[in-house]
Amino acid sequence: MVTIAPSILAADFGRLAEEVAAVGEDVDWVHVDLMDGHFVPNLSIGPPVVASLRRHTPKLLDCHLMVTDPGRWLEPLAEAGADGCSVHVESGDPTELLSRIRDLGMMAGVVIDGPTAFEAVEPYLDERIDLLLVMTITAGFGGQSFQPEQVAKIERAAAIRRHRDLAFHIEVDGGVKVATAPLVARAGADVLVSGTGIYDGRDPAAAAAALRAAADAARD
Ligand code: DX5
Ligand code: ZN
Repeated sequence: MVTIAPSILAADFGRLAEEVAAVGEDVDWVHVDLMDGHFVPNLSIGPPVVASLRRHTPKLLDCHLMVTDPGRWLEPLAEAGADGCSVHVESGDPTELLSRIRDLGMMAGVVIDGPTAFEAVEPYLDERIDLLLVMTITAGFGGQSFQPEQVAKIERAAAIRRHRDLAFHIEVDGGVKVATAPLVARAGADVLVSGTGIYDGRDPAAAAAALRAAADAARD
């Protein structure tokens, strides 16, 4: 079974706790995009919002750090109640950050952005990570079109995971909808982030269920 991780970037920020609850009990991850207006040209949310959400949901808070100095935010995020932090490989060797994330009791993830070649992340696909996040867009904004050429990265990561007998999650982020979920699930992804695919309609729980069904059918 794949895990669906709704991205609250596409939710109504004025009703965030309700929007998180609206995805239903079958969804147990929530994807939280932190952007600093510098690493990416967009500004979103930070640790205080994570702390507020923590008081309203038991779901796993999966933080995607799109910030210039990710190391600065790890402790505040752990204190806020984040369950996982993923850092971009474009910021440099993530080894030290990954071990700090784990020392703080969180799941450690590394992210590869759309324009970056797979080789940049390949050296870190080992015991240091709990999660690899493959962007199927260029990070920064929700609502972009899925880039099918990124699917090869998922396939390569899944092959490495198999050959090295590892268990890290392969999470996919960007343009994941009912039409594209089967492509990433078949390639080996097991966590699917979706923002506009879940929050643009009227029923986030039904949208999440439809995404999961489409992905699971492709994996059978
Ligand atoms: C963008 C974020 C995504 C975003 C995805 O950089 O990392 O998590 O919310 O949005 P959709 O699913 O609409 O492409
Ligand atoms: Zn994201």
